[in-house]
Amino acid sequence: MDFFDAINKRASYREEFDGAGISKADLEEIVEAGIKAPSGYNHQTTSFIIVTNTEVKSKLAELVPTKAMKTAAAVIIPVSSYWEANNGLSFEIEDYAASVENIMLAIVAKGYAGVWVDGQMKLGHTGDKIAELIHLEDGLTARAVIPVGRPVKDVPQKEKKSFGERAKFIE
Ligand SMILES: Cc1cc2nc3c(=O)[nH]c(=O)nc-3n(C[C@H](O)[C@H](O)[C@H](O)COP(=O)(O)O)c2cc1C
Repeated sequence: MDFFDAINKRASYREEFDGAGISKADLEEIVEAGIKAPSGYNHQTTSFIIVTNTEVKSKLAELVPTKAMKTAAAVIIPVSSYWEANNGLSFEIEDYAASVENIMLAIVAKGYAGVWVDGQMKLGHTGDKIAELIHLEDGLTARAVIPVGRPVKDVPQKEKKSFGERAKFIE
């Protein structure tokens, strides 16, 4: 799929998936897009847990009980490690967000759908519970869950404000 087609087609998918699996090769290609993202000082603070195990997926769906999580072929969990440069700067949030957007676009480009679920991680200690479930070491933070699969419904992209409302040239 053309890059700009993927940009224009991407939409958060919260519906059920078709129940089919997703190949390891496709998952690797999707997550590789996240690995290729830029990061502050190229320190690459984001890593990824890719869950296809049925039992672990259903435990994740108990913690984030949505239609997409309950039927996802895979759940990608971006994980941050804290790192601070000598000047005190740290970019784990920016690094993670850049990686995830690449992943969201790659998901669409490969014909799948998904949703970036970060807000729900911050409620009711869900992120900590997920970290415990997937045995994350101390110092690592589970930032989001991204349920992925083949969509059964067509979800159009939400309307975005116009170029003129959100951008301007200084010429
Ligand atoms: C940082 C961030 C956190 C988000 N957290 C959630 C979430 O917890 N649950 C959810 O269903 N969607 C979440 N989303 C998806 C947004 O709700 C969605 O991107 C927004 O409504 C715009 O819709 P679109 O993605 O279809 O363009 C999140 C997106 C971002 C970038």
